[in-house]
Amino acid sequence: MQRTSSEPLDLLETAVEIARRAADTAARMRAEAVSSTIDTKSTDTDVVTAADRAVERQIAEELRTLRPGDALLGEEYGSAGEGAAVRWIVDPIDGTVNYLYGLPQYAVSIAAEVDGVVLAGVVRNAATGDEWTASRGGGAFHDGRPIRGSRQTVLAQALVGTGFGYDAARRTHQAAVLSGLLPHVRDIRRFGAASLDLCFAAEGLIDAYYEKGLNPWDHAAGGLVAREAGLTVAGLDGAEPGLPMVIAAPPALFGPLHDRLSALDAAGGA
Ligand code: IPD
Repeated sequence: MQRTSSEPLDLLETAVEIARRAADTAARMRAEAVSSTIDTKSTDTDVVTAADRAVERQIAEELRTLRPGDALLGEEYGSAGEGAAVRWIVDPIDGTVNYLYGLPQYAVSIAAEVDGVVLAGVVRNAATGDEWTASRGGGAFHDGRPIRGSRQTVLAQALVGTGFGYDAARRTHQAAVLSGLLPHVRDIRRFGAASLDLCFAAEGLIDAYYEKGLNPWDHAAGGLVAREAGLTVAGLDGAEPGLPMVIAAPPALFGPLHDRLSALDAAGGA
C-alpha cells in the first residue's frame, strides 16, 4: 500500500524496512563475490561498484512502490523527482573500501528530508546488523536502545574521528589539517564510513568527528542520529553541515574543536 505521511516516525519506519533489506542485499552480494572467482583488484572494484548500484536500485524501486510521489537523491544515480516535499537521501554502501576488503564497517544510510529538513534517518551496518535510528525530536537509538554522545569538554582529552576524500589534492590538505590537530587531541580514529563515524560519535564511542568534503548521502542520516543524541552538528562559522565541513561534537567541545579546525583552514584546500 502506498504511503504519504511526512511524520518523522512514519518516515523512519519506511526507512528502516528498506534499509534492512538493502543491507541484506549488500552483505549477500559480497558473500557471493567472495565465494566465486574474484582474484584481481580491478575485478574487486567492479564488484563494489556493481553492489553499490544494485543496492541503490533496490532502494529506489522500493521507494517508488511505497512512496511514488517522493524525490530521491542517491550516491550512484543522482537525483530524481525534483520538487517533491519529501526527499530521500541514500548511500547504498557507505564505506566502500571497507566493503572491498571485508572490514566490517560498511553501512546502508537512508534519510528522509521534508522541505530541506532531515526528519528521519537510519544507518545500518550491513556487516554486523547494528542499526542506528533517529527521528527529529524523537531521540537517537542503537538497536532500539536510547543513546547519548560523549560529555567530554576538553579537546586535549578528546578522541576524534575523521575521514579523507578520494582526491589526492584534497588529501594533501586534509593531511596538513590532521597533523596540526593531532598534537591537541587525545588521538585520532579513521574507520572508513562517515555515516558510522557519526553514529559512533552519537553514542560516545568517539568524542567528536569532523570531515571536509562529505556529500549529503554521507552525513544526512548519521548527522540526525548525532544531533538527536545531543551533539552539535554544524559546519564552520555557523554554516550548516555540508561539503566544506561537518563537525559533530558535544556542545562544550564543539567550540574548541571548531576554533582549532578553523585556525587550520580545515574547510580550505581542494
Ligand atoms: C566515503 C566514506 C569515508 C569518507 C569519505 C566518503 P563511500 O564514502 O564515508 O569514510 O571519509 O569521505 O566518501 O565512498 O565509502 O560511500
